[in-house]
Amino acid sequence: MIGMNRKNIGHGQATGKIILMGEHAVVYGEPAIAFPFEETSIMTTIESDQMMTLDCQYFCGNLAEVPARLKSVQKVIYQTLAELGQENTTLKITINSTIPAERGMGSSAAVAVAIVRGLFDYFKTPCSPETLLRLVDEAEKIAHGNPSGIDAAATSGSKPIFFIKGQPLELFPMNVSNAYLIVADTGIKGQTREAVSDVAHLFEEDKQLAAKHITELGRLTVQAKQAILMNDVPLLGTSMNQAHEHLKALTVSNKQLDHLVETARNNGALGAKLTGGGRGGCLIALVDSKRQAEKIADSLKNAGATAAWIQSLEVKK
Ligand code: MEV
Repeated sequence: MIGMNRKNIGHGQATGKIILMGEHAVVYGEPAIAFPFEETSIMTTIESDQMMTLDCQYFCGNLAEVPARLKSVQKVIYQTLAELGQENTTLKITINSTIPAERGMGSSAAVAVAIVRGLFDYFKTPCSPETLLRLVDEAEKIAHGNPSGIDAAATSGSKPIFFIKGQPLELFPMNVSNAYLIVADTGIKGQTREAVSDVAHLFEEDKQLAAKHITELGRLTVQAKQAILMNDVPLLGTSMNQAHEHLKALTVSNKQLDHLVETARNNGALGAKLTGGGRGGCLIALVDSKRQAEKIADSLKNAGATAAWIQSLEVKK
């Protein structure tokens, strides 16, 4: 992490994340299971400059003039500098990312994590997990409206987590033998902010109905946790299938997600569901062999997915 040559340079890093179970319900206090997705990552480089500048895929120039979509990035930079007592410093912040933006992979939280880490590294100051998550949470309020904190926790860690909002982080050994997830991108931008706020509206309009789906999603997350601990891959798959139906009822899926979830199931997946905020973004499908995972990844690409990754659910030794 510490990158100091003769010229002082700070480095920060974070990964993408996948929510296995519990998205949206987690905002209402239900548990969720997530893990860092190391196939995608983000790096920041911080160095001295004559003014505050940002250099990333979407913008290169004066930090004060970033477009609306980068306001959460701007905020986390200013707040972190204030936290460090370095408001008057001028720096160049460069962001390199392979996490697809707005695909339910936590790119907004990951960029904030990597920026906070990079700035603390530049000023040679240790950053506690509490400070990191607090600063990232502020930025996520701009990006997502009402974040549960799961994206920040999953993108900043290196282990799967069983997450309940406001509670101490519980690491979760996701050690399932012969289980693979296919993560596939619909190619459509997800709309986490809108989806989170529409679930909130649903909750206001028909509290009983929305609460029923949210409670069921929580129950299915606990069931999935048990399935994982018992190495019961079919039960994990069933839990995922059922979760997708409740997410659909909460209006956070869309046609392309449903189509690809259906394609995965028709090609032998034990379970499939959207992952993350929904309304686009990514889906996940579960299988019990690498060969089957490759077959489903191909069928999803043939059905319109723009990218597919395969991830083993066995803990790396
Ligand atoms: C987004 O990755 C997950 C949501 O549950 C929102 C959140 O928990 O902040 C949809």
